[in-house]
Amino acid sequence: MTTAYLNGSFLPLDEACVPVMDRGFLFGDGVYEVIPVYGGRLFRLTHHLKRLQNSLDAVRIANPLDRGAWESMLTELVKRNSGSDQVVYLQVTRGVAPRRDHAFPDETRPTVFAMSSTAPEPVDSASTQEITAITLPDNRWQHCNIKAITLLPNVLLRQQAIDAGSVEAILLKDGYAIEGAASNVFMVKNGVLITPPNGPALLPGITRDLILELAAANAIPFRESSIPEADLRGADEIWLTSSTREISPVALLDDQPVGDGQPGPVWNTMIGLYQEYKERVRCGQAT
Ligand code: PDD
Repeated sequence: MTTAYLNGSFLPLDEACVPVMDRGFLFGDGVYEVIPVYGGRLFRLTHHLKRLQNSLDAVRIANPLDRGAWESMLTELVKRNSGSDQVVYLQVTRGVAPRRDHAFPDETRPTVFAMSSTAPEPVDSASTQEITAITLPDNRWQHCNIKAITLLPNVLLRQQAIDAGSVEAILLKDGYAIEGAASNVFMVKNGVLITPPNGPALLPGITRDLILELAAANAIPFRESSIPEADLRGADEIWLTSSTREISPVALLDDQPVGDGQPGPVWNTMIGLYQEYKERVRCGQAT
């Protein structure tokens, strides 16, 4: 049985209960993080905790734990769950209020919840043919840099992609590709890796940032710039990136092959660098 953490205690996941007056339940009033674990080690923990802090600040919830307390709680959670490769989910809500009122309650204690699940299989060349995407209009709010648990638009967009036989929706806004429903987007043209710049329109992905670091360290040309829809459609390669999907090359976009429909050479190089980085994390040589 999976062990979870709720407000100071470790307990079996199916015994973890939150009161219905929790503002996360009533309003989606909270933020979250998803952190991969390789070889029992939390991947890029500092970056995830920094982004958590930014999300908490943006929604005006005081961080209920300090850096050391987060680290020891998450490390203990990982230890208590079997398997060295996992994905940790954590969320902080504004807490339980005495009555339903949109305005912040005078006094609340944030609810802190975390759980761990089995890591998905890493992407390999054999599994890439199934990675197809459709484009959809980005109908989300103006603060997509906040990792809010209020995910209804993302849920509906992802489901629209699944219903169309694809795995992800690439969201278009004012003629530009922004990100996926639950992933960041990259394209490659003439050997140059391109991803939209961070800002309120998209989530500053931890995987995204690592890819840019690896590109810089390995002399792979890259730039952060807006991606017009026409450029996306003419890309040699398109990738979707996230903590759970790693770096997924898109084979078909709106039923049209991306490049020659095979994972491209830049993806092949980058996935190798990414897997090497993960191995260093497993050995404690990187974080
Ligand atoms: N989602 N953009 C959106 C909208 C996302 O939901 C995610 C990740 C990303 C990629 O961020 P990162 O590389 O830090 O995982 C970009 C997580 C995995 C989720 O909601 O489950």
